[in-house]
Formats: sequence, C-alpha cells, structure tokens
Amino acid sequence: MHANVVVVGSLNMDLVTRAQRLPQAGETLAGESFFTVPGGKGANQAVAAARLGAQVAMIGCVGADAYGQQLRQALLDEGIDCQAVDSASGVSSGVALIVVDASSQNAIVIVAGGNGQLTPASVQRFDALLQQAQVIVCQLEVPTDTVAYTLARGRALGKTVILNPAPATGPLPAEWYAAIDYLIPNESEAAALTGLPVNDLQTAKVAATRLLGLGVGKVIVTLGAQGAVFAAGKGFEHFPAPVVQPLDTTAAGDTFVGGFAAALARGEDLRAAIAFGQRAAAISVTREGAQPSIPYLHEVQAVVTR
Ligand code: RIB
Repeated sequence: MHANVVVVGSLNMDLVTRAQRLPQAGETLAGESFFTVPGGKGANQAVAAARLGAQVAMIGCVGADAYGQQLRQALLDEGIDCQAVDSASGVSSGVALIVVDASSQNAIVIVAGGNGQLTPASVQRFDALLQQAQVIVCQLEVPTDTVAYTLARGRALGKTVILNPAPATGPLPAEWYAAIDYLIPNESEAAALTGLPVNDLQTAKVAATRLLGLGVGKVIVTLGAQGAVFAAGKGFEHFPAPVVQPLDTTAAGDTFVGGFAAALARGEDLRAAIAFGQRAAAISVTREGAQPSIPYLHEVQAVVTR
C-alpha cells in the first residue's frame, strides 16, 4: 500500500466515564456509565483519514501490553499500515482517563506510556513512509523532539505538513512555524500558543494573525459550534459549523484534522477540505467515544453540502 497520509503521533486506550458534571478537586462523584475504546489524538486522526478516504500509515509506539495489541488491531481493522507502530517493553500503553458530562463536554488526563518512547530515530527508520506521503500529520502527545524532527523532515521533503497543536501548554518553539503548512488549534490551544484570549470569531482572528506573524503558512482555528476561522496572508474566512445536537465531543477535533488531511490528499481544494472536515466532525459529536464516533466517507457524503 502507498500511504498518501502519514500520521506521526499517539495511541491511547480511552477509559471513559459519563457523569452529570465534571468532578471538582477532592470530590468523589458517582458516574453513570463506563466504557473502554481506542483513542489517542494521533490514532484518532489516522482512523479519521482512513475512514474518510485516504490510504494511511501510522508511526507511533504502544506498550507491550494487552491495550497495545488492541490499539494496533483497531488501526489494522481500518486498513491502516502499522509497520511503524512499535511496541516498547517496560512501559504501559498510553491511556486517557476521560469524564464526559451531561452537556457533552469532557475533561481528559493522559498518561503517555509508550507514546513517550517514540523518538526521532523511530520516525527516521520509516523515512520511506514520509517520502511516499502527500500529507504528514502531527499532534503533541509524543515527545517534542520527535514532533520537531517530523515537521522539519516533512518540510525538507516538500510535503504538506499539518500540526494539530494538541494538547498545548504554551508557545511552540519558534523554529517550528516555518515548517508547518496548516496549523490547526482549537480555541484553548490557540490561546495557549499566543497568550491571547480566544473564544469567538473576532478573538480567533486576532490569534490567527499573531500565529501567521510567527511564520506559519495557514491557520485554521476550530471553534466547536461557532465553526472555524481560516487565516492566510491578510485574509480570513469563517466556515460555520453544521448544526447538530452534541452527545460527546471527544475526538471531534481529530475527526476534523483527519478528514481535512484526507480531502487534501485526494486533491480537494482548501475550502472544500475544510467544509468536509467540519461535516465529518459534526457527525462525530453525535456519537459516543473516540474512534467509534468517527464516520465513514459514505456517511459524510450523505450530508447535504453547504
Ligand atoms: O482528542 C481526543 C483524544 O485525546 C482521546 O481519544 C484521548 O486519548 C486523548 O488523547
């Protein structure tokens, strides 16, 4: 298989509880349900790209445990090339402890486990995958030097490089920006990257302008129900979100990124790729869990185009 989208990133087993509300510090809350599903921002984006029409390869690392086998199998079941999904001994697989409240918002604690073992050398070993790719996608749940290596290598190879800076805790290293074609933060990530408040279209435009000034090619700030703001050069465009009744927003951003990458890889233009990613993400929020919530191409195509 010739993968046109390569995702370098995390695989987590998600341990999900639904509760009326998120717990406060020191509080014990009774949850309503519990389930375990494959997740991880990298793996979710890989699954989204695969279900939404791309040929996908994943570069990542799990622990040598039962979760690791299940996470890898979940990707294989989607036809994703897993030759570069390593298994590290002596660590657990990545896990995410997730609470979803009655208003569909979530709080997540992640433990890196095997994801922390993904080194630049692990990516370098599979340079052939990067060379064949059209689109390379990274997030921030694997070590920083691995992301830095991948962005720089993607740029050197002339690929389309996407960074979803999630989770973001502060500004990105300044030298990264010039290697990124599409930087795709949500509100809180845009705020963390810039130090500016981001909560609506206007503030998203201000943050995007700041990020463009740092040297990134194009910025897409995703704003949930408020849609997305695309920014490049001195121009902005607002893409309204399809109106849906959300059940669980986990992996909505991942579905957008994977769908956007898949659409770019098959040659759709930018506006169409953003709208496609939004339609896919809108479907995902109506379903529970990370990977189980991600729609297939035919489901997105069935939604009336805007
Ligand atoms: O973006 C959602 C993902 O974040 C979850 O699947 C969880 O694993 C965390 O990485």
